[in-house]
Amino acid sequence: MPLRLRLSLWYGSALALILVAFSTVLYFVTARSLRDSLDQSLEETAAAAVRSLEERGFLPLIDEEELMSQFPELARIDKFFQIFSPSGTITIRSPNVKQHELPLSRRALEVAFSGQTIFESAKYPKEPPLRLISVPIIYRGNLLYIVQVGTSMESVDQTLNRLLLVLLVTMPIALAVSLAGGWFLAGRALRPVDAITLAAQRIAAGDLTQRLDVPASADEIGRLAGTFNNMIARLETSFRQIRQFSSDASHELRTPLTVMKGETELALRRPREAGDYTVVLESNLEEIDRMTRIVDELLFLSRADMGEVKTERLPVKLESLLEDIHRQASLLGQEQNIQVVLGLVMPALVLGDELRLRELFLNLVDNAVKYSRPGGTVDISLITQGNQAKFIIADQGIGISRDDQERIFDRFFRTDDARTHTKKGTGLGLAICAWIADSHHGRIEVESEPNKGSTFTVLLPLAPPSP
Ligand SMILES: Nc1ncnc2c1ncn2[C@@H]1O[C@H](COP(=O)(O)OP(=O)(O)OP(=O)(O)O)[C@@H](O)[C@H]1O
Ligand SMILES: [Mg+2]
Repeated sequence: MPLRLRLSLWYGSALALILVAFSTVLYFVTARSLRDSLDQSLEETAAAAVRSLEERGFLPLIDEEELMSQFPELARIDKFFQIFSPSGTITIRSPNVKQHELPLSRRALEVAFSGQTIFESAKYPKEPPLRLISVPIIYRGNLLYIVQVGTSMESVDQTLNRLLLVLLVTMPIALAVSLAGGWFLAGRALRPVDAITLAAQRIAAGDLTQRLDVPASADEIGRLAGTFNNMIARLETSFRQIRQFSSDASHELRTPLTVMKGETELALRRPREAGDYTVVLESNLEEIDRMTRIVDELLFLSRADMGEVKTERLPVKLESLLEDIHRQASLLGQEQNIQVVLGLVMPALVLGDELRLRELFLNLVDNAVKYSRPGGTVDISLITQGNQAKFIIADQGIGISRDDQERIFDRFFRTDDARTHTKKGTGLGLAICAWIADSHHGRIEVESEPNKGSTFTVLLPLAPPSP
């Protein structure tokens, strides 16, 4: 059953229940209070009659004229009046009862003898029901008379019937109107859900550019749409990255293959000296090495992505690691006439995997040397600050533009400057560095200005001091 229908039905049933309960209570409370006020007015009239009789020394044998002047309220047609003797016979009665015999009931007589007042209802065929009060008049312990005042209940019944009619007519209308309103509101509230479903269907069909209109409100639907959009944006980015990555990877692997194919074909075109073949084979070996490196690095990254690469957590003295790195970097630099200078080195102990940290630092030093200009200097230093070790490596090389700085950690990304500067490099080094830093709960920061140089800083948490 659709949510909208279910909501409306729940709402409708609850409302119907409330309406019925409310109307029932209203009807009975009104009926009760109408009858109470009728009884009260009967009581008041009877009391006035009794008082008047008392004033006259209990002499009821007066004529009607006098009676009417004594009890002006009897002139009102809605009440009549009878006075019974203790034997139950009528001694006097108001003119408006004359057409009916209204004997005193046995019960009223009994109650009168015990000195109490009684209310009764009576019904004659083809007449509206009557309400009666019978009040005994007792003088010195003897029952002298019973005064009975009565009235028709017609107006009470009419009022109640009208009320019932109004309730029976208005209740279904109110119910129908509010059901329609509920249906409309539920539809409005649920419309964004439909929009989300439609968008999700389009996205499932492959269109990741789809976004939902996020309603301005910060309600549940607004949050759902916002979350949904974020999710799709992330999906879109990662799909794009995967596509980009595959095309980059194939491209990087194709270049050495093309070179090898070209050289091999050329060599095979005519018979050659053994020395020529050696040259070709050596060049091919170089390309094979390059491809092997790419494939190894890709394998490493994809295993790292799947969480299959384990990093040790052993104490590593960064300062001694740094000296090793400095030696290797100096050798690298010599080839290109670049000086690698060891600056401030503070002792720093971290928990981690020495092999991976070495790879991280070597990659950065390799970059610094690779992207320096001949005659340049590369500065390496290690400082501790708070509970962090900072490995800083600064060069005066080609630099990286601000836009590119965000992308150099992407796989296969190489700046155009870097491509023109050197053929070496695949663009996987920094991606691996970033992963290693991350797996040591650290990070890498870059500061760089094109043609001025770059500074890479690796921040690693220091090992907690041993107790
Ligand atoms: N010190 C630096 N100075 C200028 N540009 C740099 C520097 N370090 C990195 N880059 C830029 O970042 C890119 C990515 O570096 P990364 O180390 O990932 O790749 P690579 O050095 O080109 O290749 P490799 O996989 O062999 O390391 C480089 O191609 C270069 O454009
Ligand atoms: Mg590199």
